[in-house]
Amino acid sequence: MLADTAFEDINEAKADMDHIYNQSDPRAYFHELNKLDYAIPDTAKPIFQKLIGHLQQHQRETLHILDLGCSYGVNAAILKHDLSMDELYEHWGQKKMTDATSEGVVAYDQQFFNDIDTSEDIMVIGLDQAENAIAYGCPWS
Ligand SMILES: C[S@@+](CC[C@H](N)C(=O)[O-])C[C@H]1O[C@@H](n2cnc3c(N)ncnc32)[C@H](O)[C@@H]1O
Repeated sequence: MLADTAFEDINEAKADMDHIYNQSDPRAYFHELNKLDYAIPDTAKPIFQKLIGHLQQHQRETLHILDLGCSYGVNAAILKHDLSMDELYEHWGQKKMTDATSEGVVAYDQQFFNDIDTSEDIMVIGLDQAENAIAYGCPWS
C-alpha cells in the first residue's frame, strides 16, 4: 500500500486537467486529450465488453452500468455505439465544431448519437462532480 506522500508525489506529476472537465460541451476535453494521446477508454473497452457479455448471459433485462467520473459520457459513447477514441477525437475536431456555439454543439451531438447504431443493449448511468459535463449528457434535464 502506498503512503499518502507517495500519492501526493504521483498526483503532482499528473497533468492538471480541471479546466477541461467542466465546460458546457466536450470540445476542449477532446482537443486537450488528443494532444496527449489519451487512450484509457479504448484500452478498457474490450475488458468492459467481456464483462458486459458475461453479465448479459445471466440476465435478460437491460444491463445497468454505473460510470463513476463519467465526464461527458465517453465510456457510454464507446460502449453503446461501438465508437473509438479516434472517432470521438475526429468528431469533436471537425472544422464546423470550431465556430459553433455550445448550444449548437449539443444539438448537433444529439442528432449524431441518434443517427448512429446503438449496438449494445445497456443503460449507462453517469456520475461526475462536473455539473456542466453532466448537463451536456442530459440536455433535457
Ligand atoms: C480523467 S477524467 C475521465 C473521464 C472519463 N471517464 C474518460 O475516461 O474519459 C476524470 C473525471 O473524474 C471526475 N472526478 C474527479 N474527481 C471526482 C469526484 N470526487 N467525484 C466525481 N467525479 C470526479 C472529473 O470531473 C472528470 O470528469
